Amino acid sequence: MMRKILMVVIWALCLFPNMNAQIVWKQVASGVWKGVIGTPETYSLLNVAGVSPNREGLTRLPEATLPTLADEIVGEIQDGKVSLRIPLQREEQLYGFGLNFQTVHQRGRILNLHVDHYGGKDNGRTHAPVPFYISNLGYGIFINSSRYLTVYAGSGARKDSPNAPVAKDRNTDKTWTSAPYSDAVSVLVPAQGVELYLFAGPTPMDVVRRYNLFCGGGPLPPRWGLGFVQRTKKLYTDKDVEREVAEFEAHGFPLDVIGLEPGWQSRAYPCTFEWDKSRFPSPADFVQKMAERKVHINLWTNPYISPESSLYKDMYPLSGSHTVWCGIVPDLADVRARQLFNEKLEKEHVGIGVSGYKIDEIDGYDRYLWPDVATFPSGVSAEQMRQTYGLWVQRVTTELYRRHNQRTYGLVRGSNGGGTSFPYVIYNDYYSHQDFITALINSGFCGVLWTPEVRGSKTSEEWLRRFQSVVFSPMAMINAWSSGTKPWSFPDVTETVREYALLRMRMMPYWYTEFARYHFDGIPPFRALNLEKEFSMEQAAVKGELRDEDLETNPYMESVTKEIKDQYMAGEYLLVAPMFAGQTERSVVLPRGNWYDFYTGEYVGNGETIVVSPGIERIPVFVKDGGIIPLMDPVLHTPTIGEKIHLEVRHYGKAEGCYRLYDDDGETFDYEKGMYSWREIRVSRDKKGRLKGSISKAERGKPDNIADVTWTFMTD
Ligand code: GAL
Repeated sequence: MMRKILMVVIWALCLFPNMNAQIVWKQVASGVWKGVIGTPETYSLLNVAGVSPNREGLTRLPEATLPTLADEIVGEIQDGKVSLRIPLQREEQLYGFGLNFQTVHQRGRILNLHVDHYGGKDNGRTHAPVPFYISNLGYGIFINSSRYLTVYAGSGARKDSPNAPVAKDRNTDKTWTSAPYSDAVSVLVPAQGVELYLFAGPTPMDVVRRYNLFCGGGPLPPRWGLGFVQRTKKLYTDKDVEREVAEFEAHGFPLDVIGLEPGWQSRAYPCTFEWDKSRFPSPADFVQKMAERKVHINLWTNPYISPESSLYKDMYPLSGSHTVWCGIVPDLADVRARQLFNEKLEKEHVGIGVSGYKIDEIDGYDRYLWPDVATFPSGVSAEQMRQTYGLWVQRVTTELYRRHNQRTYGLVRGSNGGGTSFPYVIYNDYYSHQDFITALINSGFCGVLWTPEVRGSKTSEEWLRRFQSVVFSPMAMINAWSSGTKPWSFPDVTETVREYALLRMRMMPYWYTEFARYHFDGIPPFRALNLEKEFSMEQAAVKGELRDEDLETNPYMESVTKEIKDQYMAGEYLLVAPMFAGQTERSVVLPRGNWYDFYTGEYVGNGETIVVSPGIERIPVFVKDGGIIPLMDPVLHTPTIGEKIHLEVRHYGKAEGCYRLYDDDGETFDYEKGMYSWREIRVSRDKKGRLKGSISKAERGKPDNIADVTWTFMTD
């Protein structure tokens, strides 16, 4: 009997594949629901990332019920693919869909989510094409698929839509548009099934936090990772590096990490993973000598193995069918390949004290990566491998460092959904300062970190402008692999560059705490203003006028919406509005509430657009009313375990303030066993109305790295 019923159901499903279109939602964490369409593949983004949700962090978010749109989400198998339809309301705006470089608002866009080196257009091909988006109405959707996805983010209109656009006569109606209103996000997943995750708000920030925490929370970098990073010229020897480190000291520039570029390896492109003995005759001694100078070593590599590497023979049967630059591609979906890879890294680098990696070229371009016809012994398709290789390399190396109870913080050129917790920052070879800032904004929507790294510059103005931005980013880095540029390469601005490099160090207690908030609470340290509740949709975008003459070359051209994509939030209190070379003034949109100048503490405005002309010495930075910024002395190297600091607490504005300052040993995973402290900093008014500061003691037996505290009331 049961068998008969089953047969009938299967028959019915074949005949009417749309029958099961509506999704059954199951709560999987606080404010997170999973829906299944068809038969999802077992190889997915979340499975590859292999991380578990931070459930404790999720409980700190407001309780939420299943968003009502859940009932209207439709998923069906169509033409052998999953077709998803997620409804949209008229004025709804969407953010996310991965690391975009030129746009923040994604509604109306058509994207092919595909891991690749960014090619100058927001078309879905990017370093982290994370299939996650957030609505300004306060919910988010994540598609847990490792396939190339086609997304119509509110493009296309069904004839039977209950909320369809109205036909307009273009001859007479000025509101005619070539892209009529669409009432849904549609997604094609080329597979027989998929898992969909729905994240509740109530606010867009809550959605982002839930997504990040569901993926394990943001990484907590070692403290030194937030110090200054210099990547040296590609063929530097150990002596060249030692000289450069001495020059940093001599010039009074901070330095925490030296990144070695390809020349440290005996062969690169493809790589041996072995040291070049002519340039680095004694790697262990070299790494040790650098450690004594408080400088960490980071190694560039790509994962493609040279026939000259001792790893080649054993890895050969565990690699893909196609080569990259004639090197084999380890099949990291196979545990044996991961083990071999790990053993090599352990023996050659991690075991002698190397602090981290820069893992290059796992993103693209197509012309040198494995083609989609490649096969891998694990059976994972070339397409899925492409979408997940960045996750694999991050996971393998993260686990390796964890086994050493040592935190790492490195660079990677590709990632994807689920990768939030990996201690890696994305970078690339593209070099538009403006687009680098937009990428920084978008990184906060998709659970990745991005550095607007500084390389060469044509003028000292450009140099300084780029430098000022990178100081307010997840990794303050000069990548001089090709240009050999040093922080002091432009003498007329060297003093200001040094001032900013030291400011980065001074702000360490703030940066470190903001990363702790990313880890424990899922709040991205660098993010769009759109996630701030005091920022309104009206402020977020202004629709421009379309001129008739514009239509001559493109009859379907739309008027351009000017969106805010050149200013961002850095931590809880700071709004950063970078200046670009050639600019002498710029406008800054301030969310509601009183805002103050970071450098002077002066009031600048409230919920309005201001114009600033700060001169070359200053990147405009503003602080929220009641903002508390903890600083330390401008040291050249980040304090190590147990080193005490002098804390200067700055308060801005008229409002009283409260900040929780995070502290731990800064290097190990002992914080996971409770070895950390949150200390409450309070600034309040006494009876006479004067501001007074206080800081709570660290709990007994918990890390306490503060020697003494001074208070600066910037506005009063
Ligand atoms: C590029 C990478 C650069 C630099 C270079 C060295 O692919 O993006 O940052 O590392 O390789 O060859």
